[in-house]
Amino acid sequence: MPDTSNLSRFSDTSVLCRGERFEVYIDQDGIRRRVAEIGEEISLRYAGRNPVLIGVLHGACMFLADLLRVLTIDCEVDFRRLSSYEGGTTSSGRIVEREGVARIDLSGRHVIVVEDIVDTGLTMAYLTERIKEQGPASLRIATLLHKPEAARVHVPIDYVGFRAPNRFLIGYGMDYEQTGRHLPEIYIRAEE
Ligand code: PRP
Repeated sequence: MPDTSNLSRFSDTSVLCRGERFEVYIDQDGIRRRVAEIGEEISLRYAGRNPVLIGVLHGACMFLADLLRVLTIDCEVDFRRLSSYEGGTTSSGRIVEREGVARIDLSGRHVIVVEDIVDTGLTMAYLTERIKEQGPASLRIATLLHKPEAARVHVPIDYVGFRAPNRFLIGYGMDYEQTGRHLPEIYIRAEE
């Protein structure tokens, strides 16, 4: 059978993804510790308020799953499906939303949007406007990664796992043309 794999290991700390080399940027332990800290903060702030956590598909799948596991409070979970990268390595600036994924009525609810990465901020600006139209009691954003140098619009972010440089990242939910999402670490594209 032909090898159709787009990902292979290059060394202990790097992979080849679609022919490009990516190095470990944040390892599993670093991610685990930071997610636990954010989970503790959210658990303290939202105790007794039954927040709705909204995961932004697909990238936030791992962060949301790990965050949910460390929360010690009652909460509900919903999803939105938005995309802006369109397969490239930078944001296209055009937000596309797939309708019909959301299930929970957000009016009067405490909402926390859970993202893997805020890059230009356009996805979050779009999504928070849509959510505000539903009249939530409160709205906050939790992102594992934030690239402040890439910002094209200002969106206030309440929980940031890590600040990242304006370089392409994969792993822990983030992909390069759908490859690399399953990697348990976060990788950064190697500089030539
Ligand atoms: C990525 C990421 C964020 C968004 C951030 O999604 O998951 O949702 O881009 O970029 P922005 O701040 O410039 O708007 P992507 O379009 O790659 O879709 P995916 O999560 O399904 O891979």
